Amino acid sequence: MSGNIPIMTLDGPAGAGKGTVSRAIANKLGWHYLDSGAIYRSLAVAVLDAGVALDDMDGIVNVANKMDLSFGSGDTPSVMLNGKIITDRITTETCGHITSQIAANGQVRQALLQKQREFCRSPGLVADGRDMGTVVFPEAQYKVFLTASAEERAQRRFKQLKEKGIDVSLIGLAKEIEERDRRDMERSVAPLKMADGAVLVDSSDMSIDDVIAQCLALLEA
Ligand code: C5P
Repeated sequence: MSGNIPIMTLDGPAGAGKGTVSRAIANKLGWHYLDSGAIYRSLAVAVLDAGVALDDMDGIVNVANKMDLSFGSGDTPSVMLNGKIITDRITTETCGHITSQIAANGQVRQALLQKQREFCRSPGLVADGRDMGTVVFPEAQYKVFLTASAEERAQRRFKQLKEKGIDVSLIGLAKEIEERDRRDMERSVAPLKMADGAVLVDSSDMSIDDVIAQCLALLEA
């Protein structure tokens, strides 16, 4: 557990801007940053590489317990799994889709819990995900639920993927995001929901800088 280390959690649906905002806040404060989605996505890649079926939960837990995962630093930190860079592989929406299927299982989530908590180190942590404020760091002092309209989130994700040279259709992407969000909200274990005491920020009509400022204001409140 975190002891006296300050934690800010940002939870919310896909494409709400959590990654950009969390990274900027962590940079500004000089705190560590946890991209929990990248851990879940890396597990999906590890499962595919190991040839384990997506409904073989024991097999998936086994892969989770064995995976050797490390993150680089910088704006687009490289992700290394078992000695190989997988940064591009975890970015695709197909990976997100598979990830949300395996992330619905309680044993799988349990296997990744400690890996996430290890990110909580001095002088502080900004944690981005779906259950950061509810399950992984319920003791966090600053909790945000960041959302935006479904159209806006699909547009942002579309732009993000385009910039990375990944070609997708906006309509297809919107559907995939909707399905992924529904699965994340309806699962029985650690569903996506607002944590007790979290502040709701709807970024639909806000600039990134305004969202960052609103989150940072929590520290002064
Ligand atoms: O945040 P990101 O889009 O990278 O997350 C990919 C998927 O990983 C989510 O749709 C969700 O199913 C799963 N996830 C989760 N809990 C987290 C972070 C991500 O279940 N804390």
